[in-house]
Amino acid sequence: MKDFQGKVAVVTGGASGLGRAMAQRFAREGMRLVLADVQQDALDRTVAEFAAAGHTAIGVRCDVSKADQVDALRDAALKRFGKVHVVCNNAGVAPGGLAWESTVADWEWCLGVNVYGVIHGIRSFVPAILAHGEEGHIVNTASVAGLISPPGMAIYCVSKHAVVTLTECLHHDLASKSDKVKASVLCPAYVPTAIADSERNRPADLRNPERIRSEEEIAREELLRKAVSSGRITAEQVGDRVFEAIRDERFYILPHQKIKGAIETRMQDILLERSPTDTSKPPPRVAA
Ligand SMILES: NC(=O)c1ccc[n+]([C@@H]2O[C@H](COP(=O)([O-])OP(=O)(O)OC[C@H]3O[C@@H](n4cnc5c(N)ncnc54)[C@H](O)[C@@H]3O)[C@@H](O)[C@H]2O)c1
Repeated sequence: MKDFQGKVAVVTGGASGLGRAMAQRFAREGMRLVLADVQQDALDRTVAEFAAAGHTAIGVRCDVSKADQVDALRDAALKRFGKVHVVCNNAGVAPGGLAWESTVADWEWCLGVNVYGVIHGIRSFVPAILAHGEEGHIVNTASVAGLISPPGMAIYCVSKHAVVTLTECLHHDLASKSDKVKASVLCPAYVPTAIADSERNRPADLRNPERIRSEEEIAREELLRKAVSSGRITAEQVGDRVFEAIRDERFYILPHQKIKGAIETRMQDILLERSPTDTSKPPPRVAA
């Protein structure tokens, strides 16, 4: 996409972290915004901030795991602005845990938001973008966890690997129908946001029964929290990378260059048919 002034961007998970930062960059480029989020108070605050800064933004409460709510989001966006050009399917949650310990509720919650949220975004919005015939772009937020498979993150990795392949398939499908509508997949490593507190938005019907958590679970959660908060690249920098990728029509967005070694190791594991390397551990020292 080359022309952004007055164009319309929809960002899910737009009330916090990466989504909010993408929206801020889009607003600076003169775009009009539809911010969608399941957390009403944060959404209201964010929309008020955008309005106070002189930007045009509306907020729509939407649980992206629900098909009818994403359809309603599209309808609200079209009703207010007539067209949509950019859609960032970004809302996400991040439960951790060993593969066999995760509950059915954990799987349903995470796959509902992280995978079905993106599926619904594509299903609801792509036909509306193709129909108006102008330039458009879909950005799906996956993660580096969609390109490697570290321990203790099975559900999250399953969800993000799904988003990577879904977006690669979308890229091919779009190319068969249009030269004006493109796709990108965003794969960051750790960025300081509220993702380690994503339990705050878990719906009541998908909560686990109260139970005493093991010391190992608590330690794992603490590790994730520390890793997220230690991220060296800010949400604002990721927002900039996303904008540049849309402008320059780049598919893969990997803001953290250093993680490419781990991705390469996984690819080599596959090609050499060897067991998966734990890339979260430092490589063994080789004696000089
Ligand atoms: N922060 C990181 O380290 C990191 C790294 C890689 C990928 N990601 C991905 O980035 C995306 C954004 O996360 P973030 O880091 O900004 O976290 P965040 O918690 O700051 O923001 C996520 C937003 O999604 C919203 N949300 C949660 N469930 C929702 C639902 N069902 N429907 C609509 N909105 C919902 C939350 O209310 C929140 O505003 C996620 O997909 C996440 O998996 C984050």
